[in-house]
Amino acid sequence: MAWLATGPERGPSIVSVGDQAARPSNAVSLPSIYPEWLGDRTFLAEHPARFCYVVGEMARGIATPRMVIEAVRSGCLGFYGSAGLPLAEIKEGLSEIKKALRADQSAWGANLIHSPQEPGQEAAVVDLFLAEGVRRVSASAFMRLTPDVVRYTALGLERLPDGTIKRNNHVLAKVSRAEVAEPFMSPPPEKMLRELVASGKISEAQAILAATIPVAADITAESDSGGHTDNRPAAVLYSSLCAARSRVAKKFGFDESVIRIGLAGGIATPSAVAAAFQMGAAYVLTGSVNQCAVESGLSEAGRILLAKAGPADVAMAPAADMFEQGVEVQVLKRGTLFAMRGKKLHAFYRSGASYETLSAADQKWLDDVLGEPFEAAWKATQAYIQRVNPGEAKRAEADGNKRFALVARRYLFQGAQWAREGTPGRATDYQIWCGPAMGAFNEWVAGTPLEPVENRTVRQIALNLLEGAARITRAGQLRAMGLPVSPQHFSYTPRLFE
Ligand SMILES: Cc1cc2nc3c(=O)[nH]c(=O)nc-3n(C[C@H](O)[C@H](O)[C@H](O)COP(=O)(O)O)c2cc1C
Repeated sequence: MAWLATGPERGPSIVSVGDQAARPSNAVSLPSIYPEWLGDRTFLAEHPARFCYVVGEMARGIATPRMVIEAVRSGCLGFYGSAGLPLAEIKEGLSEIKKALRADQSAWGANLIHSPQEPGQEAAVVDLFLAEGVRRVSASAFMRLTPDVVRYTALGLERLPDGTIKRNNHVLAKVSRAEVAEPFMSPPPEKMLRELVASGKISEAQAILAATIPVAADITAESDSGGHTDNRPAAVLYSSLCAARSRVAKKFGFDESVIRIGLAGGIATPSAVAAAFQMGAAYVLTGSVNQCAVESGLSEAGRILLAKAGPADVAMAPAADMFEQGVEVQVLKRGTLFAMRGKKLHAFYRSGASYETLSAADQKWLDDVLGEPFEAAWKATQAYIQRVNPGEAKRAEADGNKRFALVARRYLFQGAQWAREGTPGRATDYQIWCGPAMGAFNEWVAGTPLEPVENRTVRQIALNLLEGAARITRAGQLRAMGLPVSPQHFSYTPRLFE
């Protein structure tokens, strides 16, 4: 508690901090701010955690079960990086999480990623989550609602004796555009509910409940981030989603408070956390910074590279799974040539080239990048594609440009695998998804106990960010009251928490 003196002839001034006895009779009090108080308390009521802070999912188990467990034990919400993993491995990961946590440590979930290229996968993942008692999903990459996400949420609805509706299955929808957010903020379309009832996937009673509330009570606004990103500025996106919430609430007669909006992307310093909460974000979600934490599924070699990045050391590069469509992901640029090589591969593909039509110099470049002659790379690619997608393999046999694309995709995919495993001799090909947040974090922690990678645990990262954000919020509050507050009060030096 701080005591402030005010008077008509002077601006406010701090007369005492913490000492009530020293407080003059005309003083007004300014209550303390704690990290636990930042964000929307209804978020903590719904997802039993101490802080409105989410450790976000990172694909292919980079957000490991251990990371989720540590996030929950630290008072945060954690999402398992289940995207891109085989079902059996997801199941194993979920068991590890459940075994390590008590029943009341329930603030965790897994990633439900929209997978239009793998028919049946989304339904199988939802089935697994339901069977394994996963009560929270972060739904991402959705361009529109699908029956499986609606099935997941509807199956968890329950009418309480006081008439309110309880959610037992929570969807946190991660979006970067208002038009994608709106269907998640709205009740599911009636037709979709009718079809789910008709096919016996949900009950009539569940459909009736689902028709009265938003599909997702939590919307994560994903601004410029590591991995798949629209590179949207946080302030613009957050305001746009708030406007969408107002529109949807008006349309369906909801109170706006039934939809919380959290912020992700670029959050890696106390000022970013404070700014997000100051804007009104219900919660914050971090990604890139946790990839360099000791609990991350990324190799030590990859984590060391991340720790050297500055805010500008990132670039967009072709995504392995959507290479032909020109989809890009944000990756680490410093210490690896992946982005540059990926872009060159894509430029060749776009020009209609096949290996056979490349100049001798370009063929040599490609063989060097692949680390083997193109023909050998094609044979290995062909064997795989024949197994998973025989139609595509057949098309490629007759089309050199398609063959080129498939070999390039294999190389891009391997880049992520080499980074995860820390394959020696392949560091220049590491594909490490990373946003500018990583560099901002490195600059903030330089010369502090969080500079060495071995001290970067998800707990130390989260607690320092939150503690710093509370202090900056406090400094902002004092300044808004007219007190002179110097710039150093808007900064916070990390320390190691017990
Ligand atoms: C290595 C890495 C992998 C990611 N994988 C996924 C994923 O599988 N699904 C998803 O929804 N988001 C994924 N993300 C996004 C994060 O969950 C988070 O939303 C984002 O990183 C936040 O922005 P930031 O990177 O600026 O912190 C990934 C991010 C990174 C850095």
